[in-house]
Order: sequence, then C-alpha cells, then structure tokens
Amino acid sequence: MSMRAAITLNGRPAQIDASGAERLSGVLRNQLGLTGTKTGCDAGDCGACTVLIDGEIACSCLVAAGQLDGCDVTTVEGLKANGSLSALQDSFLRHGAAQCGICTPGMLVSARALLDRNAKPSREEVEDALGGVLCRCTGYAKIIDAVMDAAAGPAAMNLPGRVGDRIRHVDGTPKVTGETMFGADRLPENAFLVRVIRSPHHHAGFTIGDKQAFLDNNPDLVAILDASDVTGQNLHGVIPPFADQPVFAEDRVLFKGEAIAAVVGEPEAVRAFDPDDFPVEWTLIDHQLLPSDAVGNGLPPVHETRDGNVLVRGLVKRGDAASALDQSEIRVSGQFSTPFIEHAYIEPEAGYAERVGDRIELHGCTQTAFMNRDEIALVLGIDAGSVRIVPSACGGGFGSKLDLSWQPYAALAAWKLKRPAAIAYSRSESMRSTTKRHPSEIEAEIGCDSSGRITGMRFDGTFNTGAYASWGPTVANRVPVHASGPYHVENYRADTTAVHTNCVPSGAFRGFGVPQSAIAQECLFDDLAEQTGIDPLDFRLINALDNGKPTVTGQVFETGVGIKPCLEALRERWIEACKETASFNREAENSGSSKRRGVGLGTCWYGCGNTSLPNPSTIRIGVKPDGSLILHQGAIDIGQGSNTVVAQIAADALGTDVSAFELVGADSDLTPDGGKTSASRQTFVSGKGAMLSAQSLRAQILRHANVSGDAKLAFGDGRVRISDKITTSQIELSELPVNDRGYVFMSEETYDPPTKPLDENGQGEPYALYGYGAQLVELTVDIGLGTVKLDRITAAHDVGKAVNPMLVEGQIEGGIAQGIGLALMEEFIPGRTENLHDYLIPTIGDVPPIESIIVEVPDAEGPFGAKGLGEHVLIPTAPAILNAIRRATGARVRHLPATPDKVLAAIREVRNND
Ligand code: FES
Repeated sequence: MSMRAAITLNGRPAQIDASGAERLSGVLRNQLGLTGTKTGCDAGDCGACTVLIDGEIACSCLVAAGQLDGCDVTTVEGLKANGSLSALQDSFLRHGAAQCGICTPGMLVSARALLDRNAKPSREEVEDALGGVLCRCTGYAKIIDAVMDAAAGPAAMNLPGRVGDRIRHVDGTPKVTGETMFGADRLPENAFLVRVIRSPHHHAGFTIGDKQAFLDNNPDLVAILDASDVTGQNLHGVIPPFADQPVFAEDRVLFKGEAIAAVVGEPEAVRAFDPDDFPVEWTLIDHQLLPSDAVGNGLPPVHETRDGNVLVRGLVKRGDAASALDQSEIRVSGQFSTPFIEHAYIEPEAGYAERVGDRIELHGCTQTAFMNRDEIALVLGIDAGSVRIVPSACGGGFGSKLDLSWQPYAALAAWKLKRPAAIAYSRSESMRSTTKRHPSEIEAEIGCDSSGRITGMRFDGTFNTGAYASWGPTVANRVPVHASGPYHVENYRADTTAVHTNCVPSGAFRGFGVPQSAIAQECLFDDLAEQTGIDPLDFRLINALDNGKPTVTGQVFETGVGIKPCLEALRERWIEACKETASFNREAENSGSSKRRGVGLGTCWYGCGNTSLPNPSTIRIGVKPDGSLILHQGAIDIGQGSNTVVAQIAADALGTDVSAFELVGADSDLTPDGGKTSASRQTFVSGKGAMLSAQSLRAQILRHANVSGDAKLAFGDGRVRISDKITTSQIELSELPVNDRGYVFMSEETYDPPTKPLDENGQGEPYALYGYGAQLVELTVDIGLGTVKLDRITAAHDVGKAVNPMLVEGQIEGGIAQGIGLALMEEFIPGRTENLHDYLIPTIGDVPPIESIIVEVPDAEGPFGAKGLGEHVLIPTAPAILNAIRRATGARVRHLPATPDKVLAAIREVRNND
C-alpha cells in the first residue's frame, strides 16, 4: 500500500511516497534523486547511507520511510552553508579526507551531528561519533584531523600545484557535496534492471528449466539470459592467454557464487524477484576448497586442461640456496598461512550499458577502461572500436575492479534488448562472486653467519587461486621476485604454485601476493636477529639492498635504492620505543599486570608496474583556440589521487599552474590508454607520460613564440602568455589553425617502463624501479585474553619524490589500515562471511595514530624522481604487528589473522615450552 509522508528535507518541506517498509535510503536515491546518500550494504554495517533524522544519526537503509511523517531529515546535500561549502566540507578537502569519496557523505553527516553539539571535539570524541561509518581507503587519520580542525574555518590553498605542493584533490569538491556519481548513482530513466542468478553450491552440475514458462508466470520480467545468449565468446579473463571464466556457466559451476543466468525486467519487478524461484535443478559434485585437497586427490580436476589443478608455477633462483643453507652457521625456518581477504570497498559493483546504434556504451565502476573494452568486445562478438567504456567514480577497487563483474551482464542485456540495462550488486553478491586476496601457505628457511649476513634463503609458497585464473599467474610470478624483501641474498630459491580449488577466484589485491610473502621473510628475520644477538633494525641494515648490489633477479640499480634511508628514519623512534616497552614490561611483571608491550619492524619493496611486460600509458594535452588547456588523463582515479598527481606533474613540466587544466577523465573514446590502475603504476607510468607530453607541448609553444629558458605559461582568453623575468609575449590562438581534434597545440606522448624478461631461473629486469618502506608498530597485548591493542605506528616510505605529500600520507595511512585488517581480523570464508558484520574490517577505533615519514631517494626513471606507493604501504604492517606481538609476549603467531584465540594459544605454547 502506498503511503505519503510530509518531511522537512535539508531545510525544505518535502513529500515522500513510501510504502511502510520502503527504506529511506531507497526513497532518497530513487524517488528524490538525492544520490549523495550511498548504499554499501543495506544492513546498517557500513554507515555509508548515514543521514540525520531530527538531528540524530541514522543508517537510512534501516529506516522505513513510511515512519518519517513530520521528521526533519538532513542528507549530505543539505550540509552546505549559504550555498557555499561549509567549514566542515572545506576541512575535508584541506586535509585530503576524501579519497574515493564513497564513505564521505556518511562521514560528513556523522561529523555534522557531533559538531552541532561540540565544536571542538577531541580525537576520542570524533572516533566515537564516526564509529558507525566504515572507510576502506583513508585509514581514518585525515578524517579525524578534518573533523577536529573544522572549527578553524575555510582556508584558501592558492598554491600553484607543482610537484611537491600539498594541494587538495583537484576532483575533491563534488565528493564532499555528494555530487560525485558512482556506479549506481546515474541510471537512464528507461533502464531495465538485471539480476544475476548464482550458484548456491561450491561445485555442481545444473539444468535450467522452462524459461518461457517462467517468463509467462513473471510478466514484468522481459528476458532470461544464459550462456546461449552470449553473442561472442562465453569467456573472459584479465590475462588473455589464461582467460577461462565463462560469463555464464554452461552446465557445471566451479564455485559458490558463479553466474548461471540473469533475469532482466522492469526495476520494481527485478527488485521484488526472489532468485530461489528461478527454475534450475542442481546435481552436487564433490568439491575441493584447499590446495592440499586439490592436488593429487583423485577427484575430478577443476579444469580438465590444468594438470593437478595447477594454474601456474613461478621460480626465481640465484646461486645455490640449498648448499648455502647447509653451510650456514644459523638457520631458521617456519610455516605461515593467510586466508582469503575481501577487498571490502564500500561501493559494490554497479553500472549500466546502453546500445547506441551498432555500438555499446558502458558506464560504471572499474579500474581499467581499455581492458574492459577489449573483454566486452570479445563477449559481444564485436570489434573493440564498437565498445565505449565511460568509468563512473569508483568507490574503492584495490585490485578487484580490474576484473569484469557487472559489465558483461549489463552489456548483453542492453545489446540484446536494445534498451539500457543497469545492474547493482548487493553486498553479499559482491562478496560471493568477485575476486579475493590469494590465501597462502608458505614454508621458508633463511640462514646467516654469526655477523648477521644472510647466506641463503629458500621459499615455497602455495596460493589458492580459486576456480578461475584471474590474476593468479601474476601473483605466482611476482612473489618469487619479492620474497627476499629489499635485501641482498646471493643464494636464493623461491618457488610458487597457484592451485585451483572450488573457491571464488583469487585475483589482484594491493600487493599481488607480496604482503603474504613478506610475513614469512620479516618474521624469520626477527628470529635470525634474536639468534645472532643483533638488534633487529641493525640486522636489516646489514643486509639491506643498496645501489650497485644485485637483487635476487640479478638486477642492479645504480641509483634510487631507498630501503636503508627508510630504516634509518625509524631509528630514533625504535630506540625510544624499545626503551619504553622494556620499562613498561618490567613494571607490569612486578605489579602482576596482564599487559605487555611490544615493538616490531616490517619492511617492503615493490616493483612498480607489470612484471617484465609492456605497460604503457599515453597522455594527451591540448590547447583550444579559446585558451583552455585540456588534460586527457585516462589513468582511472579510484581514490588514490591520480587525477591530482598526474595534473601536478603535467603542470610542473609545462610550466603552468595546476588550476589551468580542464580534466578529461578516463573514457575509452576521449582519452588515450592510461593503462590499468594497478601495481602502483599510475604516478610512475602515467605520471611519466604526463611529464613527457607536457614537455613536448611546452617545447611546441616556446618554439612558436621563439622563447627559450624558464618561461612561465598562462592560458586563457584566447591566448597563451609566456613570461620570464624580463619579457612577456603572447600567442593569439584564434589566428592559428586547429587540428582534427580542435586543438591549436597538442601533444600526445607514451611512456612504457624499460624492463627485461625473466629467464627460466627468474633472472632479468622485471621492473624499471622499486619503491621501499619500513614500518614500526608499537602495541599492547593482554596476555590473559590474547587481545592486541595497537598504540602507534611509524611509517617511513621512500617515494622518490612526493608529488603531493598530503596524498602520500593518505596512501600510507590507508594501506596501514588494510595491513591491520590482514594481521588481526580479516578472514573471508566462502559461504560464511559474505557480509560486513561477519567479515570485519578495521573501524575508526582500530587504527592507532600514524606518523608518516616521507623519504625521497629520487629514481632516475621516475617523473621528477617519483616512485609508486599504493601497494607498498600495506606490505610491512602485518609482519611488524606479528613481530611486535612476539617481542611483547614471546608468542610466534604465524597463521593469520592473529585473533585473540590464536594469540592466546601461542602465548600458552611459549609458556608450556619454558
Ligand atoms: Fe572512505 Fe573511500 S574514502 S571508503
């Protein structure tokens, strides 16, 4: 039954038409067009949909709109003050508190409620007030700073925005007003809705029943799509030679959550449809969920063509690890494991497709426009030029939105039915069906001499790659290159195997397997330090890579190796923290307290870009006759800040202010290929493309004006003004011819990092540069309960050149938060933790104060010396936490997550052995 309610909405009277049970979030978004209120879970877990009702915060997904008659509702759209950004919104921009921006409306609304009561809140008060809203990007630090600093009022930031300037995000304003459009926010009015039917079984055969009879009984559904409707190839995969995942399974599903069909119809009908009513018969087949089950178990293989369920093996071999270990004075070894980790971006996958003549356009969230374009072309059986990908804002990706998810279903429906077709995954659908971080089972052994010098290392890692290949080959090949850590190891052997199971596919997730391998290496380094009696920081410095020393693949960098400066940057805090924890623990023992403190180290290195594969980015810049300066920047900004960083690099190289640019964001029709947003490559690779393109444009302009030297360029009013210390000249643009893109001056440059293939022993030059980092964790363990409280984290990261220090800090803080999740709480179990109340990610109260130390060891290859950072920052956190737990309690926790039960068991084991 329809109900009307009269409410006050953002200070104005409004009528809403709501049945008794309709969610307020749905009414706001679908009926009133207020898409600033985001929906991340529809269960009150993520807080993205937070609004104020009569001044109190509420998850609008849990509020029945029909109950609101007479209420006062405030959404993010109502937070402006007199039509301008409020002090709070400005503070979010000033502090870089909105990265992807999907959580920002919920954060802002919660903060507004707090500030209305308390204009100058403490950190604890902010944590309490914002505790119901999850953020997966920022690590919360800058959000806390922004709320605490809101009372300071708006402040101008009139920096030129050159390399090194701490400017606010160039695309930040719509994120704090709620105007940024994510995948589910903008839908054509006449769009059908699509809902995918998925397997409830890990492994099963199936037969779809009478589709026509089903449609006859459900007249508002217009079509059922299945494998027979795929007009091209019923197969996709991010690495074409390994493509193995059907859009729709044909007669057998290989994992719980795999797609078998999709229903399409009018939105209300599809929303009301119960997938359990879909006509399908299942025949269960034995399944294998662990690599140990999947290898040589006599069960039918997951893929007939992949022997022993092995997708791929990786190897790096240098010197003779076995005999070096045999001859080592000291040897340590261990077994380690990590579970599936869910990306848990706050925006579930969403978008729509629209057929435009003989072309198809896809609008929605993704990390890679051009890979999507090519994959969709194959699925539809059309050429790539007939596909246009227009990425929406992306509410977090972290690797998983590199793979196709929503796209083929929307595309097939729109292509076949010739009407726009939209799709928005639910939280549980997102978690059941999209890629995860690879679970790992690792055995490693490292030896050293009595002076602490590493003599040899052996590493064996098995990675559960799930039912389909996704990025499994990348993980298997990247890990052996990185498993040594940023250290000089002459005798080394690292083997990896990616094994298929009947689990959801594993794919890319910030670090591509390196966070898992670093846990083994860093924990064993602490064992060696203990056995040699050498301070753990010094032990790492003794072995750290340096300019001129070969990596485990035999690559030698003459400049840019920054691990030693990172470790040295932590020394002062390390010495202090060691003293403080020793003193605390002495007192705790004497007083009988159950609390023990520990301090631990972890380090990282990470090769930026693809491993020994082409990896180009192309950037176009043009000047129009009216003087506007257009930056075609196809590097998709998923919250990491490439829109800002690439523009800063271009501005510096061109010799102008960043505000001079109009940005044309990623669009496969309008921007050249900026490559995928992955592998920490955008600052480095697209940044270098932008630098080269800007330099080329500058050279054209200076040549035309016959000016040389350090001139500054300004664009506008139909001219380019060129001024140096002595003279100013100008080019009248309207008098000059334009090219076929409408530009008077235009440059387009491509950068592809120089790499060399790895040989059969993994020797070669896989990356043009690496970034480095070291983190120090201080924590307190309750030895009676096994609980761990993080007290403080200090992180030193070598970024070569910080293009924007504020964004660098944001990446460090966000990566650390994800590392905390990996270490202490996150574990995805297929079929069991498919929502955000059973799958826990760090909340605002779980992340301690973080001190970021930016180290700048310039790289000869990077633009202005810059290196990538995105993946690096997560890698050291988990091992540093484990090392700190061990130094606090003696307990070696080696199977993650280090939940209280595991910590307690490890403490008891130590005590029993004493
Ligand atoms: Fe918070 Fe992305 S900025 S989830």
